[in-house]
Amino acid sequence: MSATLVTVETTTQLTDDLIIQPPTSGIALQGQIEVPGDKSISHRALMLGAISQGETQIQGLLLGEDPRSTAECFRAMGAEISDLNTQLVRVKGIGLGQLKEPVDILNAGNSGTTLRLMLGLLASHPGRLFTVTGDSSLRSRPMSRVVKPLQQMGAHIWGRAGAALAPLAVLGQTLKPIHYQSPIASAQVKSCLLLAGLMTEGKTTITEPSVSRDHSERMLKAFGAQLTTDPDSKSVTITGGATLHGQTVIVPGDISSAAFWLVAGSIVPGSEILIENVGVNPTRTGVIEALAMMGADITLENQRVVAGEPVADLRVRARALHGCTISGDLIPRLIDEIPVLAVAAVFASGTTIIKDAEELRVKESDRITVMANQLNKMGAKISELTDGMEITGGTPLTGAEVESYSDHRITMSLAVAALNAQGKTTIHGAEAAAISYPTFVATLKQVCGTN
Ligand code: S3P
Repeated sequence: MSATLVTVETTTQLTDDLIIQPPTSGIALQGQIEVPGDKSISHRALMLGAISQGETQIQGLLLGEDPRSTAECFRAMGAEISDLNTQLVRVKGIGLGQLKEPVDILNAGNSGTTLRLMLGLLASHPGRLFTVTGDSSLRSRPMSRVVKPLQQMGAHIWGRAGAALAPLAVLGQTLKPIHYQSPIASAQVKSCLLLAGLMTEGKTTITEPSVSRDHSERMLKAFGAQLTTDPDSKSVTITGGATLHGQTVIVPGDISSAAFWLVAGSIVPGSEILIENVGVNPTRTGVIEALAMMGADITLENQRVVAGEPVADLRVRARALHGCTISGDLIPRLIDEIPVLAVAAVFASGTTIIKDAEELRVKESDRITVMANQLNKMGAKISELTDGMEITGGTPLTGAEVESYSDHRITMSLAVAALNAQGKTTIHGAEAAAISYPTFVATLKQVCGTN
């Protein structure tokens, strides 16, 4: 195999170009790999650890930029969190309601989960003042989805555009419980309100239009919160006042990171990849179902439950895909995987429709516009819909110069497309991958057999 299949160049000190050039004969991807820890579970383990009594031990924490932002914020509020670059991260909890007023602005970086979940805790710490911000992407993302229900609970929050945009200032209050009917299926909204409800006397209930990821519910229960779920009404209720106790959290591999290999292994002819130790919580497995609808060959092996979360090894073998419609209740269960599913659709025969996914427009970038424009530069046929994309598959792609828009999932999705394109693709701003998958390029080289 040629040694120049995948090369990475650093063009400046601030941004990286990822250059991918498969040989004209193509390259079958092979390997047995692991993906980094689940981002959603990593954030929650750090946060719940910080507000519990006693020590929380976290195995397999994601060492990406986003959980680092969470750790920094909670350290600034008094939690003792050991060096993240170790096998076992220890969080010495300070107890519920004990977060200290930080001496400086809390910076959530690029992480919507950090900022939105944290707001629920800050708003319910009476008498303490917190200011929170993020990078330019996060400062442009809507915060009113959490600010409004928190204000209904009695929260005092100020910020730009009527407290819709960070930076935000929060003066903690004693909140009152509400029953919130969320207009969107969002685990960040749900989790923010559950965390606010932890410190609020009485029952706080959140009802969602479709079920979103339930990692908060699972972990809150394990830490001792009084929480009930009603799947029929898609509601979750927390009763305030319980004491949380530190736990051992074993973080499974992130299915959102595995998704890049599920698609790459499906579309690149001759490939077979085994991805070990992947979280397969049913609120997250929409990507496997969507790929199955497209005819993909993916099997779940060695299924087990680890620390309250279902886990499996995923085996993918290349197979011709066909278009499908991805919509409705499936969308929240694969929301972060839509960019890479768009890549699968480009290589599938027929048309794929993705709809009911307007949420993509307010992610780390506008993932509808960005994916359509960047893949179209490579020769794809994608039309934007207000709430998704229409993708006419089956046209071969040609390498091109493309932009990540500083969005981790865009970077990695374009890299997957490049593996099956003719010629050289240069992805500008590829350092964004480190937000959720710092070892992406190393694994890319591994499956290409170039390291
Ligand atoms: C997340 C929830 C989702 C997801 C994000 C992580 C979480 O966001 O897109 O990457 O950990 O709760 P929304 O709640 O905005 O859908």
